[in-house]
Amino acid sequence: MADGGGDNAAGDLAFGGFVVKNQGKLDVFAINCSHLGCSVALNKDAKSFDCPCHGSRFHLDGTVLRGPAAAPLSHLTWKQGADAQTIEVDGLTLGF
Ligand code: FES
Repeated sequence: MADGGGDNAAGDLAFGGFVVKNQGKLDVFAINCSHLGCSVALNKDAKSFDCPCHGSRFHLDGTVLRGPAAAPLSHLTWKQGADAQTIEVDGLTLGF
């Protein structure tokens, strides 16, 4: 993880994540809930990330929508790939 908050800290491992593209801005979030680290899931209907463990919810920009989490989702380190349609997230090349 590039940053942290709550149960997450910079440098922690994440075993998944989400790429959110909003008005041309990319955010890449670790899947780890900032409360106690459970894996959040995308709620397509509500446009939020929801944690099944204790009910925290996050906006698509990673900020807290509902606790008990008090910190936003953590970001993963990423950079632009070889072309405009790819990014590299911690060594993995992802295409759009
Ligand atoms: S671990 Fe997600 S709400 Fe507790």
